Amino acid sequence: MDYTLRIWRQENAEAEGGMATYRVEGISPDSSFFEMLDTLNQQLIDRGEEPVAFDHDCREGICGTCSLYINGRPHGPLKGVTTCQLHMRSFPDNETITVEPWRSKAFPVVRDLIVDRSALDRIIQAGGYVSINTGGVPDANDIPVAKEHSDEAFDAAACIGCGACVAACANASPMLFIGAKVSHLARLPQGKVEAEHRVLRMVECMEGLGFGGCSNTYACEAECPKGITVANIAMLNREFFLAGLMRQKDKGRRSESF
Ligand code: FES
Repeated sequence: MDYTLRIWRQENAEAEGGMATYRVEGISPDSSFFEMLDTLNQQLIDRGEEPVAFDHDCREGICGTCSLYINGRPHGPLKGVTTCQLHMRSFPDNETITVEPWRSKAFPVVRDLIVDRSALDRIIQAGGYVSINTGGVPDANDIPVAKEHSDEAFDAAACIGCGACVAACANASPMLFIGAKVSHLARLPQGKVEAEHRVLRMVECMEGLGFGGCSNTYACEAECPKGITVANIAMLNREFFLAGLMRQKDKGRRSESF
């Protein structure tokens, strides 16, 4: 199969970028999208040109490193797959394919198709953790968790932090990502201890990093490769509201005792 590729090229964060057009031919329909890009890069290297820089690690849909808009959609045309799980049989022969990096103020372009997504790491550092001392390994089923809650926590924990929700959102909002982390931890007994602190810190961090709020378009749910639903944003809003109330109540109590 043959393709024309329109790819965003940008030498570094400060340089002005632009689209470049390449032709790749004789690609197997069973090649992955990244194998097709590897073929292109080999051709560029053979011609003495700079290969296209793109992010990847596991190539199995696990690590969340890959991050490309393909024909204007995060992770390309298929539902429920990451870029690394996409195969060339999903594109008609002789198609022109446009490949761009994630676009968000909080994700600056590092080079070509690579963006700096460390803003998501900073949101996790702000509260996406459990810091209680868990001691030794507990016996299985030692801590009772309702089946419904464990299923919901497990579904939320499927988020791989790829940033597709940010890339899909008109407001570049990471609320699906934060909602998944908050829901995952708030539904489990170990996560309840820091729930109030967690949600307030994570939302505060999100706002400080220049991300927007939820656009209510559900584009994040439609493009999430792991099927994270907007029910997690509803949970985030609920937790945020309750945490705000608790904080007000605590302040009131403290001022009464003076
Ligand atoms: S490279 Fe790991 S999820 Fe795509």
